[in-house]
Amino acid sequence: MPAPQLFTDPAAWQARCHAARDSGVRLALVPTMGYLHDGHRSLLREARRRADQGGRRGLALATIFVNPTQFGPTEDLSRYPRDLTGDLATCAEAGIDLVLAPPDPDLMFAPDHQSWVDVEQASQGLCGASRPGHFRGVATVVAKLFNLTRPHLALFGEKDWQQLAVIRAMVRDLAFGIEVVGMPIVREADGLARSSRNAYLEPGQRQSALSLSRSLFEARDAAAGGQRQSAALVAAARARIEAAGARIDYVEVVHPHTLQPVAEAAPGSVMLLAAFVGTTRLIDNTVLQ
Ligand code: PAF
Repeated sequence: MPAPQLFTDPAAWQARCHAARDSGVRLALVPTMGYLHDGHRSLLREARRRADQGGRRGLALATIFVNPTQFGPTEDLSRYPRDLTGDLATCAEAGIDLVLAPPDPDLMFAPDHQSWVDVEQASQGLCGASRPGHFRGVATVVAKLFNLTRPHLALFGEKDWQQLAVIRAMVRDLAFGIEVVGMPIVREADGLARSSRNAYLEPGQRQSALSLSRSLFEARDAAAGGQRQSAALVAAARARIEAAGARIDYVEVVHPHTLQPVAEAAPGSVMLLAAFVGTTRLIDNTVLQ
């Protein structure tokens, strides 16, 4: 596959994408923070597939930008892993046509930037409770990327379930007119959900990290076997994770769209969790059948 065309200037990207859209080309966008892994690969390939429609080739687009506004002051912004060369190779393999990778955060957020998107309800609780301002940063950068790109559709991973709910609410409330596609979690062979932050895990911590997915699989099996009480499902998951030495941020069973906690799991309810393995914060989830 040929290398994608790289844009570093958001204004040049905007001109290119808007001209394509105005001439009837279908645009599929994958916003990322880079350090691309197999989870991103599935999004990029799906973008390629969905950009092309009715025998017409569309444009498959990816953005790579470590967005400072979604990191708290004590979070891992400065050490967030980066590998633009590797990411461009991954985009090329997946058939991505254009990549926007602004090298300087000021290109996206000028020093006097003052406009923010706050998705009030979906941003509350769960990750929103332990990462104040996180979803405001996510919604704002995604809104900006949507305006710069004007895609027909945009793809996001379901691992960030709450993020997906925030983006869906924003797109609906502010009438972006963009189809938001959620793609299933991609896991390592041992069950660990793929994440750029897995790169932080030391070998000994990996076993501990596995308790997250294992506790979710156990909950899924227990729910399928008739255990409907969220409290019991959560207690079992907490016990497994704590026994593995990870520090729980939250474990909750929620409604898939409202993200409100449910006392009784119903088909489609989602168990969501976040935990620290050492200093690395990992998230994962599963839909309960
Ligand atoms: O999921 C991510 O990688 C980021 O939160 C996103 C959506 C690219 C916004 O910075």
